Amino acid sequence: MTVEMDSVLQGSRILPVLTVTDPATTHLLADALAAGGARCAEVTFRTPGAEQVLETMAAHGGLTVGAGTVVTRDQAERAGAAGARFVVSPGYDDEVVAKCRELRLPVVPGIATATELMRALRAGCSTVKLFPAEPLGGLRTLRALAAPFPQARFIPTGGIQDSHLASYLADPAVLAVGGSWMATATHLERGEYDEIRRLTAEAVDRSTP
Ligand code: 3PG
Repeated sequence: MTVEMDSVLQGSRILPVLTVTDPATTHLLADALAAGGARCAEVTFRTPGAEQVLETMAAHGGLTVGAGTVVTRDQAERAGAAGARFVVSPGYDDEVVAKCRELRLPVVPGIATATELMRALRAGCSTVKLFPAEPLGGLRTLRALAAPFPQARFIPTGGIQDSHLASYLADPAVLAVGGSWMATATHLERGEYDEIRRLTAEAVDRSTP
């Protein structure tokens, strides 16, 4: 049976999105996220060392780690080999979804319109990433898109800050909220792991009933 995204998240309602340029810092980042109470994280395929980061983070043990920004079959394959437990894409792509199904990896395609949402649902993806959530209109757009598709669950991502969290999470169509605000490029560049832990703990606190 295919594992679905809700069982991967196991009740966790925040998904830190990580773009790590220096794989050697992965342990520090994983420690900070885990100490802040995060249980899942998404490592984006936007840096040359992404696979190494994914592997190290998956081996860390404290986090369920997936791959993000997966836009090709090959990346999906490499993500699975590096230990990704789920795959996130900024858009909907038949080949990426098919490869993830073959690998039995839960896949969360990005959607921005009703047409894309219909394609994702037809392909059996009931959890989708609304991307880029805030520039698209945020919660108002999410609610309008969700209305005709009660079977869809959303992980809004893109431009989301801690201050938006409570209102997104109060919506029954929202499974979890994704974003980089807990570990931004600046935090990572400056090695601000205490701040990453603090922001993660704050988000976990806000997302826990
Ligand atoms: C993503 O890859 O999902 C987004 O780029 C993360 O969006 P954010 O950096 O605006 O949170």
